Amino acid sequence: MASLTVRQLDERLKTLLRLRAARNGRSMEDEIRSILREAADAAGEDILERFEPAATPARAAAVPANTAMPRVLLIIGGGIAAYKSLDLIRRLKERGCAVRCVLTQAATQFVTPLAASALTGGRVYTELFNPEHEFDVGHIRLARETDLVVVAPATADLMAKMAQGHANDLATAVLLATNAKILLAPAMNPAMWANKATQRNLKQLKADGVALVGPNAGEMAERGERGVGRMAEPLEIAGAVERLMKIAAAPQPLKGKRILVTAGPTHEPIDPVRYIANRSSGKQGYAIAAAAAEAGADVVLISGPVNLPKPENVDFIDVESARDMLAAVEKALPADVAIFAAAVADWRVANAGEQKIKKQPGKATPQLALAENPDILSTIAHRRSDRPPLVIGFAAETENVIANAKAKLARKGCDWILANDVSPSTGIMGGDSNTIHLVTAAGVDDWPPQSKEQAAAMLISRIAATLTGDRN
Ligand code: CTP
Repeated sequence: MASLTVRQLDERLKTLLRLRAARNGRSMEDEIRSILREAADAAGEDILERFEPAATPARAAAVPANTAMPRVLLIIGGGIAAYKSLDLIRRLKERGCAVRCVLTQAATQFVTPLAASALTGGRVYTELFNPEHEFDVGHIRLARETDLVVVAPATADLMAKMAQGHANDLATAVLLATNAKILLAPAMNPAMWANKATQRNLKQLKADGVALVGPNAGEMAERGERGVGRMAEPLEIAGAVERLMKIAAAPQPLKGKRILVTAGPTHEPIDPVRYIANRSSGKQGYAIAAAAAEAGADVVLISGPVNLPKPENVDFIDVESARDMLAAVEKALPADVAIFAAAVADWRVANAGEQKIKKQPGKATPQLALAENPDILSTIAHRRSDRPPLVIGFAAETENVIANAKAKLARKGCDWILANDVSPSTGIMGGDSNTIHLVTAAGVDDWPPQSKEQAAAMLISRIAATLTGDRN
């Protein structure tokens, strides 16, 4: 089985796939899965069983013990998400990692050792009691000769065995024997993830110092199933590996792209000393600008007044009012992507005083007349010339989050809306975490509650995947 990414398809096939995915409200990746499923149903058997597992995995040089390259041992568990782990191998190698791979027996039902071996460029290990393997490397050496163990997909069964310290196959024996840091990318049905036993195991594993990436919320491989349990995308897992191993030279998927970000509130003057504002802290927009710069983009951050340090390596423009912000955004065009994270004041004071308004004892209190501010997102999304190819807005809602966000997507003419519930009880406005629902023409992706930095990283990986054609 070859490792296939959407990018590798020819243009015609990509267009057909994109149309079919959009029609069915699925991502391109999910559409491929559904095509495979349909083919398997039509064949009346599990299509994967028709492939013979490789008798002898390809052999290549083992990872040298003293290599300067960061060494990752990737354990692929038995779940449908295993096919994404083949892409993960590629992502890790792009980051300069030396990757060794262990497949559980169940994993070999989903991907072949031959495919994994072709991608790692080395032997793939599947059995604990294989005299050839034990003579060659052995589970203790596999466990020791690595800087990080990544388990992806980490199934409920693997997590349970790890939490209990079982060692009855190669994967679990290695996990028990290793002194290296372990990163799990769980993937399972939402009911299995939510089950008390899994949550108990998760708690134990966290207490044991195991790191986690995902699982994400969204559609499952099983038809009609949604919820938390999808394995994190390969780029997200690779990002977590980078952070854990502090790999310096991360690839820069947004190199050469210009990204414009608005952030923070706007201040609308009442007079020279007073203004109307809102509770936006600017944290989400700043985190997005920082993540985009880290991914190599040329970033312009146009910010209303906030109390945050400027992110490194961005062009920074500070503004006060909505009208200043619009002028700065228009001046900063063209851009490949524009992300409107600012909480722009909808109204300004029409009769703002040029001098400080004074109290006048005995007279009526001043009346403020409001005028509507320009809608920056909508103005840019509807531009005839210089419209950025990808225009992304936020929807700050306090009720009917998804329905309002869908209406906003249509009304404002943007491509994606990141919707979030900003009711005071959520603590999102001004807080450090965020729960986002990504609304696009293809459907809704529910992201898990996470820090604003993690949400920014997820958005940037999604943008990178879209710009490189790996996702729609
Ligand atoms: N936005 C903008 N200019 C405005 C108002 C909003 O660019 N004058 C952008 C925000 O940056 C955000 C999106 O529009 O990306 C939605 O903002 P939100 O406050 O949720 O929506 P509003 O358009 O203000 O609509 P409402 O207040 O009715 O929900």
